Amino acid sequence: DKGNHRHFMEKEIYEQPEVISHALSHYVDFAEHTVRDMAAEIDFANLRGLAISACGTAYLAGLVGKYWFERYARLPVEIDVASEFRYREMPLSKDQAALFISQSGETADTLASLRYCRDNGLKIGAVVNVKESTIARESDAVFPILAGPEIGVASTKAFTCQLAVLASLALAAGRARGTITEAEEKQLVKSLAEMPRIMSQVLNAVQPQIEALSRDLSKFKDVLYLGRGTSYPLALEGALKLKEISYIHAEGYAAGELKHGPIALIDENMPVIVIAPFDRFFEKTVSNMQEVAARGGKIIFITDEKGAAASKLETMATIVLPEVAEIISPIVYSIPIQLLAYHTAVFMGTDVDQPRNLAKSVTVE
Ligand code: M6R
Repeated sequence: DKGNHRHFMEKEIYEQPEVISHALSHYVDFAEHTVRDMAAEIDFANLRGLAISACGTAYLAGLVGKYWFERYARLPVEIDVASEFRYREMPLSKDQAALFISQSGETADTLASLRYCRDNGLKIGAVVNVKESTIARESDAVFPILAGPEIGVASTKAFTCQLAVLASLALAAGRARGTITEAEEKQLVKSLAEMPRIMSQVLNAVQPQIEALSRDLSKFKDVLYLGRGTSYPLALEGALKLKEISYIHAEGYAAGELKHGPIALIDENMPVIVIAPFDRFFEKTVSNMQEVAARGGKIIFITDEKGAAASKLETMATIVLPEVAEIISPIVYSIPIQLLAYHTAVFMGTDVDQPRNLAKSVTVE
């Protein structure tokens, strides 16, 4: 049932504040502002490293997770798409754990990677939506994302719920390893707890502007997304979302890679979507944006109030979000990314929930 929505994808985008709140309540204590102890599931304190593997959007959630585990838990993360991971013959040791992320829990390559790690004696954790799935069944510890059924082929609420769970796991690991203080944990969990309210606010605030902008975006054949830090995986996710449902060719790049190649493509025919909250990377990303502007590139700037005030560049559009804590920015910034892909596809008249050539669950290699 789509309720009042035109597509399941739209419904699932709008469900996010509610499902994230539900997912978080499973992993954090909202009253105490602490994260649940997960030592019984994974002994984070004694791990030397974590291997993460997944496909598509789930892989991109894992890529954000890598930044968090390394920053908050000082835990080295090895991550790869499952179709490579399973064949890389990666040396693994028993003091590493492995984490598999999958909405369906049935993705063939992810399952094969899981079995490879299990055969190497690693402890297996699964971040899944479907709790009765094969991946969940074959794991030692299951971390449900509690997003509810996701019908749209383009993943939206599963992505942000995966992020919410990964953030909680990274903080649990940080506490277990003594790499975040009690005060830091409280502050970070407070930021997580604020997310549902901020997401609702953003959904309402940006929708009209993004719908109007999508009309312009639909005229282009190629789009480039740029971001740094956790905004880099988000740039990849933005490009994936746009290409899968609107069929516009889109690429995501780490902003710092711009001058190592993609800058050659910049002209007035390829809009560049820059994801840049006013964080410790902002200045660097803005200097990349200047390079785009100097070559006549059109910029769609997704930032916050401080970022909008700090940049004097002319843009095709500036989407202004509230200022948020760094840990929640990839989740909050998912909303404009998803809405932009969604409205562009609707405008182009594609089959949004069932895009051509794609399946919701990829059970063959
Ligand atoms: O069910 P899974 O999470 O394992 O699926 C992984 C990918 O197939 C999936 O995320 C795919 O990339 C989506 N269509 C993205 O929107």
